Amino acid sequence: MINRTRRLRKTENIRRLVRENKLTTDDLIFPLFIEEGENIETEIKSMPGIKRFSLDKISTELDEVISLNIPAVLLFGIPSRKDDVGTETWNDDGIVQQAIRFIKKNYPRLYVITDVCFCEYTIHGHCGILNDNNDVDNDATLINLSKQAISHAKAGADMLAPSGMIDGSIIKMREALDNTGYYDLPIMGYSVKYSSAFYGPFRDAADSTPTFGDRKTYQMDPANRDEAMREAAFDDLEGADILMVKPALSYLDIVRDLKNNYDRPIACYNVSGEYAMIKAAGDKGWIDEEKVMMESLLSMKRAGADIIITYFAKEVAKILKRD
Ligand code: PBG
Repeated sequence: MINRTRRLRKTENIRRLVRENKLTTDDLIFPLFIEEGENIETEIKSMPGIKRFSLDKISTELDEVISLNIPAVLLFGIPSRKDDVGTETWNDDGIVQQAIRFIKKNYPRLYVITDVCFCEYTIHGHCGILNDNNDVDNDATLINLSKQAISHAKAGADMLAPSGMIDGSIIKMREALDNTGYYDLPIMGYSVKYSSAFYGPFRDAADSTPTFGDRKTYQMDPANRDEAMREAAFDDLEGADILMVKPALSYLDIVRDLKNNYDRPIACYNVSGEYAMIKAAGDKGWIDEEKVMMESLLSMKRAGADIIITYFAKEVAKILKRD
């Protein structure tokens, strides 16, 4: 007495025929940490396999990304100078701007997305200007966000991704870009970004840990699902071209909610902590690292993600090329 679904699982060939989701290299965005300076190629302890590179050291990494046919990278800058407001973010000669020019010149096929935020550039490590209560001053930050966006656009970025959960960032950046002639430059909104402990390793990698307090006033409470729909609605109305959910694995219900409710491409960010856990357990021999990695990313596709930002991108692309 077997049911009709089970009959269609008997061999790999029939499983292939009825398989609903597939992970492909076309789905992947690879984050890159670019540090100002020379001769830097530093392993990030809590993210085995991921490094911070200075521009003079990044070519091998980019060659590999190109040879694996990964379509896009997401750039995070690590500046040598920080201040209270993150002035370096809109320096046309800043590290991200230099990196954009370098990549567009030497790897013109690669699609370059930039992180538009302040936490790696402020002394206090928060994602914007602080007010007298030491909370992020939303509207003052918006002005600087637009400056940063224009500077990235001028350097030749292909897409901008504001990650700070600053309200109004999409509409303000859109206006600024349209007014300066960058009307065809898309924006990927970090529409639903939770205040998550899964960002721990990234903060080491990007040197962006807040020196006091946390991000709970601007990032979302992990307990909330309905609120995610309201956050996504703002970004959609403001003109985000792609809506993102972050982190990914613990928030796949939100990915599906967005997929069902918005006729836009949905991205999810498979964040540093998700990466670190699989790497650590794999290293200990407690799980089959490769299989768990592939299953995790496939589950993001199944939840409805069109795009996955992941530190596993190169490994996944290698496996997909091999199989
Ligand atoms: C900051 C930013 C964070 C990440 C991307 N951009 C960290 C944070 O909000 O503290 C996390 C990425 C990751 O964990 O992989 N604007």
